[in-house]
Amino acid sequence: MATTNRRVNLAVDIGGLEIKNPIMTASGTFGYGREFKDLVDLDRLGAIFVKGLALEPTRGNPPPRIVETPCGMLNAIGLENVGVEAFIAKKMPFLRKIAAPTWANIYGTSIEAYAELAARLDDVDGVAGIEINISCPNVKAGGIVFGSDPVAAHKVTRAVRRKTKLPVMVKLSPNVTDISELARSVEDAGADSVSLINTITGMAIDIETRRSRLANITGGLSGPAIKPVALRMVWQVAQAVKVPVIGIGGIMTATDALEFLIAGATAVQVGTANFINPKVTTDIIDGIENFMHQNGIGDIQDIIGTLIT
Ligand SMILES: Cc1cc2nc3c(=O)[nH]c(=O)nc-3n(C[C@H](O)[C@H](O)[C@H](O)COP(=O)(O)O)c2cc1C
Repeated sequence: MATTNRRVNLAVDIGGLEIKNPIMTASGTFGYGREFKDLVDLDRLGAIFVKGLALEPTRGNPPPRIVETPCGMLNAIGLENVGVEAFIAKKMPFLRKIAAPTWANIYGTSIEAYAELAARLDDVDGVAGIEINISCPNVKAGGIVFGSDPVAAHKVTRAVRRKTKLPVMVKLSPNVTDISELARSVEDAGADSVSLINTITGMAIDIETRRSRLANITGGLSGPAIKPVALRMVWQVAQAVKVPVIGIGGIMTATDALEFLIAGATAVQVGTANFINPKVTTDIIDGIENFMHQNGIGDIQDIIGTLIT
C-alpha cells in the first residue's frame, strides 16, 4: 500500500518500447503468463518475458533438473518449450488480452535458427519485442556458446535485427571474462537494449553416490546467491553502452530492484523469486512506489543510474 495517494511516474523506455513500470518477469520462470493468472494481477506488470522459444518443440533434459542450493537454485531444464508455432497459435491468444506487453525470448543452435525465429515472430499480433538468449551452443562452431564469443554474438544479433522491426533485446551470459565487451558488440550489431544476467554455470554433488545432483551434471545458478555478481555486471555494462540495460539476478524485494536501478538498469526482470512468492512482482512495484513516496521522488528517472562513486 502506498503511503499517500499522490501518483508517481514509473514509466520507462526499454529501447523503443515504453512500459508503465520497470518490473518484468524473467524468461523461464513465469511460463507463458497464463500459469500465473490466478495468482498475480498480470495487467500490472511492466512486461512479461515468456519461456525461451525454439523453432521446434523441445523436451529439455532428463530429471533431476532442479537442485536447491544455499541462497539459490541450480537448473538444467534444457530449454523445454512448446516451439514457436504452438506459442503463436496456443499461447498468444491469452497473452494478447493482458495489458502488460509480451516479449518473446528466443534461442537456437545456429544463426539461421535465430533469424528464422525472428522472422516468424515479427508480425505476430501482441508480440512487443524479441529477447535473444545467446547462452546457447553454436553447433556449427563446435558448440562454443554464442554468448561467450563477441563475434558470434554480433552475428546473431545482426541476423535477428535484419529480420524484425520489433525492438531487439540481447540477453547476456555472465559466464565470460569481460561482459562489457559482449555488450558493446551486440550494441554495434543493432541491439536496442541488453538484459543481464542469465544464470551462472554451477554444480552440486551427492557425496554418497558421487554423482552430480543434476542429470546434466552442470546447471545454471540463479536466485539471491548471484545478486552481487549481477549488480556488478549491470553497473559495468551501464557504463559501457548507450542502449538501456535491463538488470536480472536474484531480485527478491523492492530494495533489490532499486539497487539495480541505481546501478544503471532502466528496468529489471524477476526470476527465481516467482517460485517462492508468485505475487513478488506486484509486491516489488508497491515497494518501489512506497520508497518514492517516502523519499519525495516523483519520477523513477530520478533513481536510474544515480550511483554515487
Ligand atoms: C527454471 C529456470 C528456467 C529458465 N529458463 C530460461 C529461458 O528459457 N531463457 C532465458 O533466457 N533465461 C532463462 N532462465 C534465466 C532467467 O531468466 C534469469 O536470467 C536467471 O534465473 C537469473 O535471474 P533470477 O536470479 O531472478 O532467477 C531460466 C531460469 C530458471 C531458474
